[in-house]
Amino acid sequence: MQAEKLMEVQGQGFQVWSYACHSRFEEALRLWMPSVDIAPQRLHQAMRYSVLEGGKRVRPLLAFAAGELAEADPGRVNVVAAAVELIHAYSLVHDDMPCMDDDVLRRGKPTCHVEYDEATALLVGDSLQSLAFQLLAEHPLSDQPARQLQMIKLLAVASGSRGMAGGQAIDLDSVGKPLSLPQLEFMHIHKTGALIRAAVVLGAQCGAALSDAQLAQLDHYGKCIGLAFQVVDDVLDSEADTATLGKTAGKDAEQNKPTYVSLLGVMAAKKMAQELHQEAKDALADFGERARRLREMADFIVLRKF
Ligand code: IPE
Ligand code: IPE
Ligand code: MG
Ligand code: MG
Ligand code: MG
Repeated sequence: MQAEKLMEVQGQGFQVWSYACHSRFEEALRLWMPSVDIAPQRLHQAMRYSVLEGGKRVRPLLAFAAGELAEADPGRVNVVAAAVELIHAYSLVHDDMPCMDDDVLRRGKPTCHVEYDEATALLVGDSLQSLAFQLLAEHPLSDQPARQLQMIKLLAVASGSRGMAGGQAIDLDSVGKPLSLPQLEFMHIHKTGALIRAAVVLGAQCGAALSDAQLAQLDHYGKCIGLAFQVVDDVLDSEADTATLGKTAGKDAEQNKPTYVSLLGVMAAKKMAQELHQEAKDALADFGERARRLREMADFIVLRKF
């Protein structure tokens, strides 16, 4: 369903490509998620409930797009795409809990703690995070062991207190506070940008070695598009409806969260997303046609309606 919606936004070539990526990805993910036939069954059921069937899969698609640029083996990219998506899914399960955003709807379904219970949701997050690193450790990602270790560390840093979890801590600490623009940018770059950036760099690192300058260009693309992603999330929270989003609209204002919309207003937030979109595409200039899918992903991230 989400895949079909995603395709409406883009042209034919992108549709075919993203559909192929989705199919390959979902099949592998289904296989790597623990079966509901294995104990503890309820936890495994809740993990599958939170990960499978739903989500735009933007981070996996970014990993595939970067992997194509580096001519990476799609099987390897599948592993890093799954690892990043598992961390993302865990972050959503915890983000929705009563101690955080207290949301009841996610990906068009009751949130994990509503469908199961709070303790299970906590453990789903813990288990998804462990599974992400298990996948990175048990599958070959690079012919060079040192590079594979570097890749595992990259996801660890992007997920932890200097990345996503740190950004979430700032988010919770900022409720009702008037943040400055640099403070808001710092929060968004961490809570959402870090994983998106990691998806891009890890996808590329599955392939042929890139120069430091090329990796820096890709990293800059990831930084810009990661920030743009959360700016658009803030705009959609204020403008879109719950049915389209599959999560409760209008929560940020209701909970007094500092966002680009609350700080700048919706027009300036949209303009900022467009500027970041352009900066992200500029960072790809040297790659020419090889970066085609990354450019299309940037378009999707900024133009999306859900
Ligand atoms: C929502 O992420 C949370 C943010 C980081 C803004 P997505 O919009 O990628 O959520 P799914 O994966 O498509 O459900
Ligand atoms: C969530 O940001 C970021 C992470 C889950 C790390 P939001 O709280 O804005 O995400 P939504 O809007 O609930 O999806
Ligand atoms: Mg939140
Ligand atoms: Mg939230
Ligand atoms: Mg949001």
